[in-house]
Amino acid sequence: QGCKLVGCGSAVPALQISNDELSKIVDTNDEWISVRTGIRRRHVLSGGDSLITLAADAAKKALEMAKVDPDDIDLILMCTSTPEDLFGSAPQIQKQLGCTKNPLSYDITAACSGFVLGLLSAACHIRGGGFRNVLVIGADALSRYVDWTDRGTCILFGDAAGAVVVQACDSEEDGLFGFDVHSDGNGIRHLNAGIKENESNNALDSNGSVRSFPPKKSSYSCIQMNGKEVFRFAVRCVPQTIESALKKAGLPASSIDWLLLHQANQRIIDAVATRLEIPSERVISNLANYGNTSAASIPLALDEAVRSGKVKAGQTIAAAGFGAGLTWGSAIVRW
Ligand code: ACO
Repeated sequence: QGCKLVGCGSAVPALQISNDELSKIVDTNDEWISVRTGIRRRHVLSGGDSLITLAADAAKKALEMAKVDPDDIDLILMCTSTPEDLFGSAPQIQKQLGCTKNPLSYDITAACSGFVLGLLSAACHIRGGGFRNVLVIGADALSRYVDWTDRGTCILFGDAAGAVVVQACDSEEDGLFGFDVHSDGNGIRHLNAGIKENESNNALDSNGSVRSFPPKKSSYSCIQMNGKEVFRFAVRCVPQTIESALKKAGLPASSIDWLLLHQANQRIIDAVATRLEIPSERVISNLANYGNTSAASIPLALDEAVRSGKVKAGQTIAAAGFGAGLTWGSAIVRW
C-alpha cells in the first residue's frame, strides 16, 4: 500500500508584526533580528482569533486542491503544542469542516517536529489501518506562550496553520518514504514551557504523599530557551536525520529537488544545506515573513512553494523538523 500527498493549504492570522514594531516593546532592532535569524515579520493571533479556525481554513484549502470532500476524510491529525483545548483540538476542526461521518480526529504533540511525525502517523494509518484520506494539519500559536518582555525568544515566533491531504495509492505511486525520527528527553532544559513550578501539584511531603488536596489549577510557563544549545542541536542532528532518511529511501542527496526544513532560523537552514552540499537555489525558505511557526512551518512553506509553482509535480523534497522535546526527524516526500 502506498500513500501520497494530494493537496496542501495554509492560513495565517491577519495581524502582522514587523521587527520595528517589536523594537517598541523590547530592546532590539531590525538589524539584530534579521542578521541573527533572517526573520523580518511574523503573524500573531489577536482578539477573538482561534487556532481551530486557522487550522480549518488551511485544511479547507488543502481539501479543495485535493478535490476531497470533508465526508471522505477518515482521519484528522492535528499536530500542535498549543491546542485550543487541553483535551485536544482535532475534533473541533472536524466539526468546522462539516465532516458528518465522525472520522477519527486527534492531536499530536511534538512541537516543531509535529508535522513530520504527523506525516509518519498518516503513512502508518494508511499502510496498516486501511485509512484512505488523512488530513495532516500543523498549527501552532506560540505567541500565547511567549514572554513578550524576553527579547531572546519573543522575536522568533509567529502563529500559522498548514495542512496536507495524504491519500492511499498504489505502491508504485508511493510518495512518502524514508522516515527517520528521534527524541531525547535530556534536552528538555534547553527548550521548554512546563507547568509553573509554584503551581506544581507534585510537591511531596517526607512520606511521599501529595501535600495539598484538592490540587490547584495549573498553568504553563512561558517558553524558556537556551538559543545557542538549540542551535547546536539543530545543526548537528538535522543533517544526520536527513542522511538517514535518504539512506532508508535508497536515494542519494543529489536526488533531492528541495530541502524543506522547519523554519526556525535562516542560519540553521544555511548550515544544514551547506553540510548536505545542497545549493541555496534548492532550499525553501519563507521564515522572513512568518518567523518560527512551530508545527505549521513545514506545511506553510510547502504550500507557498507549491502555489507559486516552485515545487512541481513529481519533485522530491527532503523535509525535516526539530525542536522541543527534544524531538527531530525527517521524511522524503514526493510532491
Ligand atoms: N535584540 C538585541 N540583542 C539581543 C536580542 C535581541 N532580540 N536577543 C539577545 N540579544 C543579545 C544578548 O543579550 C547578548 O548580549 P550580550 O552579548 O551583551 O550578553 C547578545 O545579543 C548575543 O545573544 P545570544 O543569545 O548569544 O545570541 P545568538 O547569536 O545565540 O542568537 C538566537 C540568538 C537567534 C536565539 C539563536 O541562538 C537561535 O536562533 N537559536 C536557535 C533557536 C531556535 O531555533 N529555537 C526554536 C526551536 S523550535 C521549537 O521547538 C519551539
